Amino acid sequence: NQFRTNDIRTENSPLQIFVKAKKKINDIFLEIDDYVDDTVRFIGSLRDDHNIISPPEVKKVESYTDKVQGIRDVLKRDHMKVAFFGRTSNGKSTVINAMLRDKILPSGIGHTTNCFLQVEGSEGGEAYLVTEASDAKQPVQSVGQLGHALCKEKLCESNLVRIFWPKDKCLLLRDDVVFVDSPGVDVTPNLDDWIDKHCLDADVFVLVANAESTLMIAEKNFFHKVSTKLSKPNIFILNNRWDASASEPEFLDEVRAQHQERAVDFLAKELKVCNPKDAEERVFFISAKETLQARLQEARGQPAHNGALAEGFQNRYFEFQDFERKFEECISKSAVKTKFEQHSQRGKHIATEIRQTLDEILERTQKMKSEQVNVKKEVHDKLNFTEQQLMILTQEMKDKIHRMVEDVEQRVSKALNE
Ligand code: GTP
Ligand code: MG
Repeated sequence: NQFRTNDIRTENSPLQIFVKAKKKINDIFLEIDDYVDDTVRFIGSLRDDHNIISPPEVKKVESYTDKVQGIRDVLKRDHMKVAFFGRTSNGKSTVINAMLRDKILPSGIGHTTNCFLQVEGSEGGEAYLVTEASDAKQPVQSVGQLGHALCKEKLCESNLVRIFWPKDKCLLLRDDVVFVDSPGVDVTPNLDDWIDKHCLDADVFVLVANAESTLMIAEKNFFHKVSTKLSKPNIFILNNRWDASASEPEFLDEVRAQHQERAVDFLAKELKVCNPKDAEERVFFISAKETLQARLQEARGQPAHNGALAEGFQNRYFEFQDFERKFEECISKSAVKTKFEQHSQRGKHIATEIRQTLDEILERTQKMKSEQVNVKKEVHDKLNFTEQQLMILTQEMKDKIHRMVEDVEQRVSKALNE
């Protein structure tokens, strides 16, 4: 079945770029951690000898333990974050649900999503949610009330509800992708707050536009603001609800060309986040609703569609998959760069500094050793000299005594003869 192939892809997913890089950098930091531990222990054994090592040096080396631990904690938590924006009812929540292959986020007509909803993978197969107000795990079903605009006890719109969903239910969650759903950009005057709170660490933004209308000023303004705070954000534009085009086939190509041109101009000319050629690769025509339905059908072991869907369903479904593939490539490459580049620099820096400190200690001890040898040599030379002197002296004395003895002998024998 042609629709099934997509489900089977695992190890060759572009997300593996990030997954493997994350594993590698975590392993490297484990080694750095060992290295720091060894150094701290070694330095500890020298700390009483202030000639070899000074107290500030000991402190400096010990401070690396916390630094490395801090980086390791951040690295373990690092993930790829994608945030979805667009006008109310364009289908943001439905797009996320389609990618997750399940109806996790509330969706519906009217103003639905009421606050920021983040979906991330949970270990151990547990599904729950937590709010900003409390760490308590709440049943995931309550997202229908907490995140829904029609609910009485509404959360503030810039609030975040974190939904933890079993990793084994979705490859994207397993590979550390975190999804952020937002209320419509047209329902708030607080865009700056949103950006500061939810967007600065996003690796990819998806603008969910409505193919039945066109890009709106509110949507454009939002991304203009984003690109003043982030340099060249990665933005995809999904022209959602493209199934509507099936009912007006006579204008389909022209409408598509119009949307495509406006979207490319917006990315390349207005925002200047990429060149027109790359922008072409960032625009898709999809139907999130159809894709979600097809995937739910597949999950039940039934065919992706029962023939009642609008004309062109397969193309839209393939385009959705194409979007997912390009999105996965983009997010994993971008996240590796933004999340790991800085940490690998810091890791290198720490390793270099520790090496320098150890080199300095080694140099110092070598100097002390050679000084000691010099001192010894001086004493040695002195002794040698004395020895030699002694030898000379004794020889001289011996000769003198010998001569004296001879002299005395001669004189004695002479005296006797006389
Ligand atoms: P808010 O949360 O209110 O900002 O809306 P949203 O952008 O999250 O839209 P949501 O996903 O709730 O979808 C709004 C309505 O549009 C729902 O009834 C969806 O079923 C429907 N919808 C979403 N995507 C499509 C699509 O591709 N085609 C059609 N025909 N309907 C869609
Ligand atoms: Mg929504």
